[in-house]
Amino acid sequence: MVVKKPRGAPLPFREPTDFGDRTFRSALVNVTNVCNLDCVHCFVFRASNPNRPQDKMDDTIMLRQLEQLRDKHGIKSMLFMGGEPMIRKDLVLEAMPLFESSSIVTNGTYGIPSVPGHLVTVSLDGPEHLNDPIRGEGVFQKVKAAVFAPDRDPDDGTTVILQMTVTKANQDGVEQFVEEVKDWPVTGVAFTFYVPLKGDYGPMAWRDISERDDVVRRVIALKEKYPAVVKSNIGALELMLSDRAIESTGENGEHCHMRGMLPLYMGDGGNFEAPFCCYGNEVDCSRCGAYAVFNNAHHRAQGEPAPAPAS
Ligand SMILES: C[S@@+](CC[C@H](N)C(=O)[O-])C[C@H]1O[C@@H](n2cnc3c(N)ncnc32)[C@H](O)[C@@H]1O
Ligand code: SF4
Ligand code: SF4
Repeated sequence: MVVKKPRGAPLPFREPTDFGDRTFRSALVNVTNVCNLDCVHCFVFRASNPNRPQDKMDDTIMLRQLEQLRDKHGIKSMLFMGGEPMIRKDLVLEAMPLFESSSIVTNGTYGIPSVPGHLVTVSLDGPEHLNDPIRGEGVFQKVKAAVFAPDRDPDDGTTVILQMTVTKANQDGVEQFVEEVKDWPVTGVAFTFYVPLKGDYGPMAWRDISERDDVVRRVIALKEKYPAVVKSNIGALELMLSDRAIESTGENGEHCHMRGMLPLYMGDGGNFEAPFCCYGNEVDCSRCGAYAVFNNAHHRAQGEPAPAPAS
């Protein structure tokens, strides 16, 4: 006989997946596999990753599991991601105080959350004519409206960074993007670069990372021109150049310190799963463009503690 849960009664608690006994100072959590957009470059929805929208975890269970994983692995900083995390805004706002430092990366189409003292990274992949073919028709204007929303207080203490993921398809737009958004009521602009799958030679991917050098140098020039707006470190960007990028990544992630971050993807039956790295499975580390990898390496080379990845 099937015993049905009485309406409104809490679901029985499930122990979190066993990820061993390692310490992970930072983690990310995909609070949902649901997304209202269908971006061309998105690593989350690749076939090799846990990402089925029907795999869900109840709010109460997720809060308790995050608390347990925090205590077991010593997690200090948590990045709330998805899918689109603002689809579960109430859960995210409740979970953020569980960690010493919490940040959100969002597509911005549900508005910009007010979380004083925290970082909110808002994704926009270039000026409108380059962003919309990647993120969807009308998305640039929707995000712009959210940034300028009359009920948003840009001085509420939330650090809001616009992040452009630079790919081979939108690389021509980095200068126009900064010119266009530099006076928007946000804290600044950041750049990260495409992370391809192994064997991905599609329109987003540089075949060889030496082809990426030109746009990396142009982002360095933008940082020199607008040091207060562009939040990237020149030292980190220089580490991305093709003559030395492999030193921070390794062919298979063996030099990458992002692998010390616990990626909590939403897997089968609504249980957390950890893929190879926060960019999922089957990634091509030798062509990885994740800014956080190089920023981390840059800080370590300076003898400074590694910053928590923002996305
Ligand atoms: C996967 S999204 C999830 C959060 C939210 N839906 C958003 O779009 O911001 C997080 C960030 O990853 C970036 N991203 C997606 N696919 C990528 C890829 N293949 N390589 C590098 N960054 C990627 C997105 O542009 C976004 O800034
Ligand atoms: S909005 Fe974010 S999660 Fe959704 S498809 Fe785009 S990059 Fe992926
Ligand atoms: S894809 Fe990038 S972030 Fe992931 S392990 Fe490889 S180098 Fe690190």
